[in-house]
Amino acid sequence: MIRIAGGEKLAGTVQISGAKNAALPAIIASLLTTKPVVLHNVPHLADVETAVTLVQALGKEVRWRGRTMEIRGGEELHPEAPAELVQRMRASFLALGPLLARAKRAKVPLPGGCALGPRPVDFHLYGLARLGARITFANGAVLAEAKFLRGTSVYLDFPSVGATEQLLLAGTLAEGETVIINPAREPEVADLAELLRKMGAEVRWDTDRVTIRGRRELEGAEHTLIPDRIETGTYLLAGAITGGKVRAENVEPQHLAALLDRLSLAGCEIEVGKAWVELIGPRRPKPVDFRTWPYPGFPTDLQPPMVAFLALAEGRSTITETVYAARFGHVEPLLQMGAKIQVSGSVQVVDGVEGLRPAAVEATDIRAGAALVLAALAANGVSHVRGEQHIRRGYENMVEKLRALGARVWEEED
Ligand code: EPU
Repeated sequence: MIRIAGGEKLAGTVQISGAKNAALPAIIASLLTTKPVVLHNVPHLADVETAVTLVQALGKEVRWRGRTMEIRGGEELHPEAPAELVQRMRASFLALGPLLARAKRAKVPLPGGCALGPRPVDFHLYGLARLGARITFANGAVLAEAKFLRGTSVYLDFPSVGATEQLLLAGTLAEGETVIINPAREPEVADLAELLRKMGAEVRWDTDRVTIRGRRELEGAEHTLIPDRIETGTYLLAGAITGGKVRAENVEPQHLAALLDRLSLAGCEIEVGKAWVELIGPRRPKPVDFRTWPYPGFPTDLQPPMVAFLALAEGRSTITETVYAARFGHVEPLLQMGAKIQVSGSVQVVDGVEGLRPAAVEATDIRAGAALVLAALAANGVSHVRGEQHIRRGYENMVEKLRALGARVWEEED
């Protein structure tokens, strides 16, 4: 667990790591080739370790050198993903397309629901079926088979990040053109497309679609992952919620437009450079309304941390979660800390309070965990946030990074 003595204004500079949600599909993309894939700026995270274990179990060799990862081998892939890894991390399901494209048959367990509500994979399966896969189910796993994949157009009912990535991956080894209509446009998806281009695939983005021209084989590639926009947002919010001054470096400010817009409405002073953002937090935030939305909308992954910040606003904020059915794991613990939040359907009505009180709370997922850490940084006194293992899935060295900003934070055995 993490122990936090809150009430300090944070001040200083934080270096942002490579993006978790770009690293995971990039590692899985290495399954598409037998040539070496070299990734730079890879964060050391529990989820990245899970992705490494997964590709190793499927036949790849992985070597780390600092933040560089080299993935090679895999002439013969083992086409069955271990259930334990898919349960631990949903992104493991992305292995289905590459395994199918390379090995003609693949078996990957269904990931099931999670702390954010039910999270089906129907768009992934619909898309792969459109490319010619025969999909069956047995003992909680998906079995996909196809002698070859044939490109066609696939309309996504929602611009799902995972389904777009699944089809990008599979499309690179399909015959002809795969067209994804209504694709996700998250920067992490674009980063995967960039890696696939370097591996020799033709990927073209138009306003409403992405077109992939498949190849018989893909090459190796070397690629630097984009910075983690969600980690960036979390540290800017740590500055904001403590009324401090935080500068985040090695970032891509363009990826943060929706957050920066709402933070400035809330009264933060923000300065933006080529690869940095500096923020000075207000004494108390002004209330702001927002709804989560696919990129370039406000990212759902920053909804819980933003709610923690608005819990201290001078007035009422209304927040609508449109991406997940139930991303409210932060609400109960924030109530324990004195926040006033009412949930009705997908809407949270947050009546700002003057101060939060310290408490012993428990994180149930990565971003709820981040929200609780932020709330604890603002609460005068000592809080305990349990469930640090969730935070470690998505934040590299969070305790050290916060300490460098002047926070009084410790890791403790529970
Ligand atoms: N959905 C379906 N059917 C599908 C796929 C998705 O109904 O076949 C629904 C989901 O249930 C959800 C919505 O569509 O309600 C969005 O899901 P999406 O597929 O876009 O998300 P994902 O690929 O499962 C990635 C990130 C998440 C992030 C979302 C949304 C990775 C590894 N994960 O998940 O990140 O919240 O996109 O931006 O890239 C996190 O980092 O904490 C995290 C949860």
